[in-house]
Amino acid sequence: MHQDQGDDGQDPKEKINYKATFRLLYNLISTRKGPFFIAFVYMVSATLLNLFVPYIVKFVVDTALPARDQKALLLAAGVYIVTTLLFLYFNYMQVLQLARAGQDLIVELKQRILAHMLTLDLEFYSSTPVGRLNARVQSDTSTLYALFTNTVITIVNDALMFAVVFCVMASFNLKLTLMLVPVFPVMAVLGWVFVKITSPMFIKVRKLAAEVPGFLTEQFNGIGVLQAFSREADTSAKMEELNRRKFRAEVSVEIYAAVFFLTIAFLSPVATAAVFNFGGRMVIAGKLTPGVILMFVMYLAFLFDPIYRFSEHLSVIQRSFSSGHRISKILALRPALTEQANPHYLTSVRDSIDFRNVWMRYKEDAGWVLKDVSFTLPRGKSLAILGETGGGKTTVTSLLFRFYDFQKGHIEIDGTDIRSLSLGSLRAAIGLVQQDIYLFPGTVMDNLKLMDTSIPDSRVHDAIRLMGIEAFFKKHPLDKKVEEKGANLSIGEKQVISLARAMVLDQEVLVLDEATSNMDPHTERLITTAIKNLLRHKTVIIIAHRLSTVRNADRVMMVSGGEVKELGTHDELLARGGLYSKYYRLQYGEGE
Ligand SMILES: Nc1ncnc2c1ncn2[C@@H]1O[C@H](COP(=O)(O)OP(=O)(O)OP(=O)(O)O)[C@@H](O)[C@H]1O
Ligand SMILES: [Mg+2]
Repeated sequence: MHQDQGDDGQDPKEKINYKATFRLLYNLISTRKGPFFIAFVYMVSATLLNLFVPYIVKFVVDTALPARDQKALLLAAGVYIVTTLLFLYFNYMQVLQLARAGQDLIVELKQRILAHMLTLDLEFYSSTPVGRLNARVQSDTSTLYALFTNTVITIVNDALMFAVVFCVMASFNLKLTLMLVPVFPVMAVLGWVFVKITSPMFIKVRKLAAEVPGFLTEQFNGIGVLQAFSREADTSAKMEELNRRKFRAEVSVEIYAAVFFLTIAFLSPVATAAVFNFGGRMVIAGKLTPGVILMFVMYLAFLFDPIYRFSEHLSVIQRSFSSGHRISKILALRPALTEQANPHYLTSVRDSIDFRNVWMRYKEDAGWVLKDVSFTLPRGKSLAILGETGGGKTTVTSLLFRFYDFQKGHIEIDGTDIRSLSLGSLRAAIGLVQQDIYLFPGTVMDNLKLMDTSIPDSRVHDAIRLMGIEAFFKKHPLDKKVEEKGANLSIGEKQVISLARAMVLDQEVLVLDEATSNMDPHTERLITTAIKNLLRHKTVIIIAHRLSTVRNADRVMMVSGGEVKELGTHDELLARGGLYSKYYRLQYGEGE
């Protein structure tokens, strides 16, 4: 079997876990046995009706015509029409039933995958590209949809039809039926050879096919850079090369497929010719009626149909196993951060947030990113964190949210270890304004409420007033449309909105990771005012780059190489003449 199917992210040598995949597929179908069984009954009924048609032909040729019986002819015509109508009806019902059951199953599966993904840690998201997550929810589930709504049921039905047709043929003439039997092992061998030869070719085609969307996403995401550096022609050339490779791979597979099908297509007339020849002799010898020959020829078509269909099924089955494997792998992931059995619920911070000798590294084999970090932030106060880029500032705040766990030390809120708090309540109690601001498509108002429609507009207006930034929202009214990722706003404007959002969401503790962009004096003042007012109303940890922000904070913490170098008020640190004072003079000039 193929190990890899158009995969974006699966190691081709990775063994498919058939057991887990089977369990996933079985679980999905087991709660819907009823609807699928009904669909199967419709399909078998339609097939049996279809199989009856050659018998009607035999009746006309062998019974009605020789007897010159017009009534019998009329009867045959009537039965034929009714059979066909019933066949169409059952067919329709089967399609309807399968679509319903299949959609229901896929909707449930998609929900399960998504719900599960949302419980996973940031670690999972930072190590898995978005495109791949998308593929799990979208294309992998639709492969399984094809499996459940078509493949499985058709294969069972085809096998059943194969057996029925053989029995019917044998019951009319065993000798002639047995003469046809050798054709099928020949076909099976051909099929096996075909699969063996083309499997690696299909893998190559699918790999190439998966590269195209990945490449395009990358290029479109970076289109600004590409155009700025006039690299469009480069992209075109790479795309062309990719397409050419895909074209060559596809053509060679198609050649084999065509040869295979032509061989099978040739075996079908061979079998038919055998019926004409040997059956015809039997008729001449009086051992067989002409109607049986006609019937056999028609039945042969029924026998060959499933074989033509089989290669299509094979590819769906292979892809389904890869998809099922990938989905069950995701479903098996457990968040690394766990809650204890009876977590405490954090309603508010009454006292303080304490870091005590915290050590942290992202990977076991990597170095410490935080070394022995300690500080206390009393309720209602503010702490500005300063330091070189990559020093560990964002990491300090990520730990407070338990986006990651630390290895040594303690982080406590009002004396309670944050690992014994419920994750939901912890994160609900603390607000976050991230370094890279993300706005959702919708209005400015929607973004200020973070899509929570239960927040009254009045709270938004109050927050804006408290922060003293009414003027900004006159220029950018609350009903202004925000495009995807906030593309129609400048970085400074996005910052103002995200700060206001933190105020609207009304969490008592806030973590602000200030972006390092330079602003015009006007926006600078706006943001300074906004932050100053936030600091006045809340308990805040702010990763600061602006002097004005640092000066407004109650205490300043210098972080360098993952260590707390200095901790104190602005004046204390400045007086000490250490790292902070150097940093301060370097960045803001002597005169400030
Ligand atoms: N998810 C992650 N996995 C592994 N290493 C990480 C991860 N995030 C950050 N790091 C590493 O940890 C160190 C500290 O990163 P952090 O983001 O805390 O720095 P920072 O002080 O916030 O820097 P900046 O001022 O540039 O935002 C860096 O060396 C960084 O490469
Ligand atoms: Mg940072």
